[in-house]
Amino acid sequence: MDVPYVDLAASYSGLKQEIDSAVAEVLASGAYVLGKNVAGFEGEFAEWVGSRHAVTVGSGTDAIFLTLKALGVGAGDEVITVSHTAVNSALAISMAGATPVLVDIDPETFCLQTHALEAALSNSTRAIMPVHLYGHPVDMDPVLEFASANGLAVIEDCAQAHGAAYRGRNVGTMGRAGCFSFYPTKNLGACGDGGAVTTDDPELAARIHSLANCGQGEERYRNVYKGGVSRLDELQAAILRVKLRSLDSWTARRRQVAAVYVDGLADIDLILPVEKEWARHVYHLYVIRSERREELQGFLADRGIQTLVHYPVPVHMQPAYSEGARTVGALPVTVKAMDTILSLPCFPEITDEQLAAVVRAIGEFQSGS
Ligand SMILES: Cc1ncc(COP(=O)(O)O)c(C=O)c1O
Repeated sequence: MDVPYVDLAASYSGLKQEIDSAVAEVLASGAYVLGKNVAGFEGEFAEWVGSRHAVTVGSGTDAIFLTLKALGVGAGDEVITVSHTAVNSALAISMAGATPVLVDIDPETFCLQTHALEAALSNSTRAIMPVHLYGHPVDMDPVLEFASANGLAVIEDCAQAHGAAYRGRNVGTMGRAGCFSFYPTKNLGACGDGGAVTTDDPELAARIHSLANCGQGEERYRNVYKGGVSRLDELQAAILRVKLRSLDSWTARRRQVAAVYVDGLADIDLILPVEKEWARHVYHLYVIRSERREELQGFLADRGIQTLVHYPVPVHMQPAYSEGARTVGALPVTVKAMDTILSLPCFPEITDEQLAAVVRAIGEFQSGS
């Protein structure tokens, strides 16, 4: 049985009528930018996350970039983050003119090693950007304490973690700002690019909104900043409003899929993802580790089961970062992860039969058949 890695067309089919009618309404309205759907979605998303404000922008990368810019983080400044992440986390820091300072990850959660913060600190450090990678939250208390002791801003990279929580607190509500992506494959995905920043700070929200909209002030054609153009459009906002209503049930299904993998793969020679006792994991990705990763991936591909590697090259080993980033130590956990990680199919529309086929095939690989 073929099992795709993700099935965005199935996701659309499940909501076809609602999405089609929302899109048709926008097209007929003639209002395509900064209209009622953007305002409506910002209010609904802020409420869903539990923050006072949500400002939509053109992508998750821009959400981080514009937040840094709005906080005045730029040339000569350093932002501590991880090397084991989508390269976008680092790119957004570079776009702001600042330098990413890359620390290693925790071997269990794949998230920022909080005890590495001290060694990463310099006179130029302005912010920490924990990445809630794969949908598992970072251990935030030590990050928040370290940031407050050293006068640093905390910007959460929530691109992969809509709905994840740390000790009962939703991601996107703990730092100065939370940066979300609505790239189509994300847990809440648009039919194009999109992003949002959540924050409780009304001034920061207003500044990001302005920077994303040419730097315009309260009055039209009066520019208070040299901003850019990074707006979520009405079509994407209308689609996201429809999809947001299903997000909790999709997350529940992702968690169910993870539970099936835990049951089915428990006796197999693999390392499975953990959910720490203080965490609510939303399984954006279900990432296992195997010393025989290449063989396993090939075996599954031969049986029609698609898997991916997130990510094969950490930021500090990317050609683009042969300069322009600072690495704290040799990052051994990060380097080891890149050769062993494998993302199994994990999406809300996967059928029980498809899931069983993945579990069965991994069992066959293990038993050598
Ligand atoms: C961890 C992480 N941060 C940031 C981003 C950037 O989001 P976008 O692709 O919407 O620009 C992504 C997604 O690619 C991501 O996975």
